[in-house]
Amino acid sequence: MLVSVLTAVHVLGVVIWIGGVAFVTMIVFPMIARMEDSFEKVLFFQGMEHRFARIAKNSVGVVGITGCWLLYITGEWRILFSMAGIGPTLMIVVWTSYLFVLLFEGKIFRMIFGGKTQQDAVKVFSLLSRFHWVILGLSLLAVGVGVWAGHGGVLI
Ligand code: HEM
Repeated sequence: MLVSVLTAVHVLGVVIWIGGVAFVTMIVFPMIARMEDSFEKVLFFQGMEHRFARIAKNSVGVVGITGCWLLYITGEWRILFSMAGIGPTLMIVVWTSYLFVLLFEGKIFRMIFGGKTQQDAVKVFSLLSRFHWVILGLSLLAVGVGVWAGHGGVLI
């Protein structure tokens, strides 16, 4: 019963969080790419980012707590970093990457947006967009492998 409740809450957190990342990657970045003015690009991105960061932080918390709890009560922590535990291992890799970005968000933004010109803004957003595609791909891989391995799927 507890495992089912924790898994449901865990997956709901994943849906809101990764769904948001998918929306930003597939809808928001192409919209920003079509904007002419770099100032408008930065303002729009930071406004959107500011709102989403709060949702992402809460989701990362919920997913992390329920995930660790699940690891503990299912005993799956014993198979972490092995082929049998590839699902939760990938989840932890993805979770840690997001945690890192969320913790150092301020510093990262100052680094990429500080003193940039109009042409640089185009480059910065193209780089950010590619980075989002990579992290979205990794997240979807973690979801796919997690569900596959958690339901009797054999990986090799
Ligand atoms: C600290 C981070 C995390 C830990 C410790 C963790 C651990 C777990 C554990 C132990 C389970 C249940 C057992 C299993 O089905 O293998 C589970 C289920 C799941 N996790 Fe995570 N997880 C974490 C983060 C994530 C992230 C970042 C994602 C998505 C990108 C994710 C997606 C899922 C999904 C979709 C399931 C349901 C699998 C199913 O039963 O069909 N988890 N997680």
